[in-house]
Amino acid sequence: MTRSPYIGLHVAVANRRASAADIVASVQREIETGALPAGSRLPPVRVLEKQLGLSKNTAQAAYDELVARGLVEAREREGVFVLAATRFTQAAPIVVAPTPQFVAPPLSRPDLPPRGTTALSTVFIDPELLPTERIAECARSVLRERMPSHYDAQGYRPLREAIAKRLRSRGLDVEADEVVITTGSQQSLDIVARSLAVRRIAVETPLYAYAKLLFETLGNELVGLHLDPFSGIDLDAWDRALAAKPALAYLIPSFHNPTGYSYTSTEMRGVLDLCVKHGVAILEDDWGSDMLSDGEYRPMLRMLGGKDVLYVNSFTKKLLPSLRVGFVAAPPSLVPTLVAMKRLSTLGNAWLTEAIVAEFLDRGYYDTHLQQLQRALDARYASCLASLDELMPDGVRWTHPGGGPTLWLDLPRSIDLVALEAHLARRGVLVSNTSAAYVGPAHLHGFRVAYAYLSEDEMRRALTIVGDALRSHLWQK
Ligand SMILES: Cc1ncc(COP(=O)(O)O)c(C=O)c1O
Repeated sequence: MTRSPYIGLHVAVANRRASAADIVASVQREIETGALPAGSRLPPVRVLEKQLGLSKNTAQAAYDELVARGLVEAREREGVFVLAATRFTQAAPIVVAPTPQFVAPPLSRPDLPPRGTTALSTVFIDPELLPTERIAECARSVLRERMPSHYDAQGYRPLREAIAKRLRSRGLDVEADEVVITTGSQQSLDIVARSLAVRRIAVETPLYAYAKLLFETLGNELVGLHLDPFSGIDLDAWDRALAAKPALAYLIPSFHNPTGYSYTSTEMRGVLDLCVKHGVAILEDDWGSDMLSDGEYRPMLRMLGGKDVLYVNSFTKKLLPSLRVGFVAAPPSLVPTLVAMKRLSTLGNAWLTEAIVAEFLDRGYYDTHLQQLQRALDARYASCLASLDELMPDGVRWTHPGGGPTLWLDLPRSIDLVALEAHLARRGVLVSNTSAAYVGPAHLHGFRVAYAYLSEDEMRRALTIVGDALRSHLWQK
């Protein structure tokens, strides 16, 4: 017969050594407060003896006394069990309330679109295009090595070295010691915002909604920097906005999410100058700069502005979302604080995933993969543009990013976006809810069309449904 597990007993000891009376008093108190519920098994006498360093007789005498008082019963070969509580009354229910500053995300979409639906706005890449077999090969090779028992809160050193080498080959002056590996770049945004003494953050509007929600949840006031992907950046307007002296500007200069816009070189320079003028630190989210044809890559603020620009990137979209490996490259003086924040949040990353990504980079697989991926994405992008040309009615316009995973489809103001979104969802086409992406009033009127997730046929079918809906004029406000 397997015995039921017994509950650990806390015995308050009045003198140097517990007496039978101490045990009786402690058990009685715990039964009365409900800490020892009816039916719990008490430790066997020999366990109590060992725990408290007593003679067997003392422990047994205590249990005999508890039986005599009707608080416990001894069941043969099973142990000693608590009987129903004598005076225990239910305490007030435990209060579980979210922190007051938490802003519940108005983002309705689950991480992955439900089966049978077409996710027109998701920025994930089609799993068919991801190198799962090669990742498995790297995982097998890594698993043949001995697992280290310790982790490094800053991140697996060979991966940090491989990242720094890769960034240096793109003109960024980065050392492995300046890189902190995080759980996706989302965690980089989190630890940066919590490490800097920021209360006010400047962001492009619209912007990647989970960055907006994160910064707001951390209690920051957001200053919106208007981004119109059709006319570019109005540097004078940004100058006026930055005069509000935010401590940090979070910027996505290449293939901006959600508009697909990329800063021109003049805008890059201008934005850097403005940040210097107003004393604003820069956090550059470079999620897309290496998603471009022909092995090109775009210049980065970190390249022009040097080590003081914080730089974030990630392997999650381009390699495999479930690996959740991202990183931040930071000025050396900030690294210890970032590592401390990282430690507070997760202690460290799982060595295994970091080692797999390091192996993937070390074998040169990443560059080969990006080249193949980009060929496929270029074909999807071209086909998406052709479908838009053919299927969209007059008055609809879209951006032409030329890289990255997404473009912005902008609709006439007369369209009721909420009603259109619901209509498309009923036909199985999911588009992003962009209401969460603006700081202040929305100056654009549309949603993301992301061409990396859908096949050319799926994209064409989805855009046909969108085009038909727009032509039907049912969604006029
Ligand atoms: C612009 C941008 N930055 C950062 C992230 C965070 O991605 P991850 O944590 O997967 O690296 C996302 C996710 O979609 C994004 O779109």
